[in-house]
Amino acid sequence: MSHVSPVSSDGQIMEPTLRDLSEPLIDHEEGQLFLNEAFKIIVEEVFCKGTDVKQKVCEWKEPDELAQQLDLQLRDTGEPQGRLLQRVRDVAKYSIKTSHPHFFNQQFGGVDYHSLAGRFLTEALNTNLGRMIPEDLDEKIELSKSLGAVPFFVSCTSGTTVQGAFDPLDSIADVCNKHDLWMHVDAAWGGSVLFSKQHKHLMKGADRANSVAWNPHKMLVAGLQCSVLLLKDTTNLLKQCHSAKASYLFQQDKFYDVNLDIGDKSVQCSRKVDCLKLWLMWKAVGSTGLEERVDKAFLHVRYLVEQMKKRDGFLLLREPEFVNVCFWFIPPSLRGREGNADYQNRLAKVAPIIKERMMKQGTMMVGYQPLGNKVNFFRVTVFSPLISHKDLDFFLDEIERLGKDL
Ligand SMILES: Cc1ncc(COP(=O)(O)O)c(C=O)c1O
Repeated sequence: MSHVSPVSSDGQIMEPTLRDLSEPLIDHEEGQLFLNEAFKIIVEEVFCKGTDVKQKVCEWKEPDELAQQLDLQLRDTGEPQGRLLQRVRDVAKYSIKTSHPHFFNQQFGGVDYHSLAGRFLTEALNTNLGRMIPEDLDEKIELSKSLGAVPFFVSCTSGTTVQGAFDPLDSIADVCNKHDLWMHVDAAWGGSVLFSKQHKHLMKGADRANSVAWNPHKMLVAGLQCSVLLLKDTTNLLKQCHSAKASYLFQQDKFYDVNLDIGDKSVQCSRKVDCLKLWLMWKAVGSTGLEERVDKAFLHVRYLVEQMKKRDGFLLLREPEFVNVCFWFIPPSLRGREGNADYQNRLAKVAPIIKERMMKQGTMMVGYQPLGNKVNFFRVTVFSPLISHKDLDFFLDEIERLGKDL
C-alpha cells in the first residue's frame, strides 16, 4: 500500500515521515494482504449478507450521520489497513442491497433519461396501455411535415420504465420505412425478453430497427453498468461520428489489424470493459440459463398478481404486460371512500409514507410515482433470480403492515 502512515502502539496515526521517493512506493506484499482481507469482507457482506433474506435491504442513516460514520474527509496522511478494511465493511453495510430478494426496484444508474428526453411525438401514445399507436404516429409525422418540420428519428420502447409496455415494433417499422426515419428501440429494460422463446414475441420487429439499446444490468442483473448499443449499420458509423483521429493516441501503422482498436469509436476514451461482465455471465449460465431467468420473472409476476387479487386493498393500475406490477395500496381508512372529494389527495400520500417506513426499517425496496392524472402508485419489478413465492407473500404482507394505519 502506498502512503500508509505508521501507527503507534496505542493505534494512533503518527505524523508521516518523509519517504525516500527513489524507492518503490508500493509494497506488494502488504497490498496482497489487504486485497485478500477486503475480498473476504466483500464475499461476507455483499454476496452472503447482501443476498440473505434475513438481513436488511437497506441500513438507513440520516445523511449527516452517515457522513460521520464513514468519515468522508480526505487528509494528507493515509490510513492503516485495519481502518481501511473497516471502511470497506462500512461501505458494503450502508449500501442498498440491490441483489437482495426483497429489492423490488429496477436497476438504473443516474437519471432516467427516458423521461427527460421524452419520446418523439409523445402524443402518439396509447395512454392507457403506455404503447405507441402506429396510425397516430403516422398522422403526427404527416402533420409535423406539413408544418415544415423535418422528422428524422422515432424512439420506440420495449419495456417502458413504469408500466413495462412494449411498443408494436413491426407496425412502427412500417411507418419509419414509409417516411424514411431512423428507428431506435429503447430496450434497456425489456430487451432481455429476447432470450425467452415464450416471450420474445413482445419484441417482434426489433430486427427491423436501425438501433437498439439494451441494459443487461437491469433484468439480467449484470453488475452496474453494462449497457449495449446494437446498430444495424455496416458503414462503421460510430467511427464516422466519434473518431477524432488523434495521431497522438491511435496510430494506424501498428503491427496488428488496427480495426481491433475500438477506442477511437467511442465518445469517451478511457473506459472499463463493461461487456466482459455480460460475456462471462453468458458463458457461465448459457443462453438457456438467461432464458430461465426471464421466464421465472414472468411466472412470479403472475403469482404476485393472483395473490393481489385475493387480498383487499390492492388495486392494479392495469394487467401487467411485462414484469412491472403497478398498483395502489388502499389503506383500510380509504376503502369504499372513492367518492370523497379528498380521496385522490389522500391516496397520493400513501405510497410515499409506506416507502419512508420500509426504508427506515430496511425491510424492502420498491419504487412509486405518479403518472399523468394517476396519483402515486407503487411499481414493483419482479426479476431477481433469487426470488421465491415466499418473498412475494412477504412483499404483500409488508405493504399491508406498513400501510394499515394510514
Ligand atoms: C426504458 C428505459 N430506458 C432507459 C433507462 C435508463 O437506464 P440506465 O440509466 O440504467 O442506462 C431506463 C431506466 O430506468 C428505462 O427504464
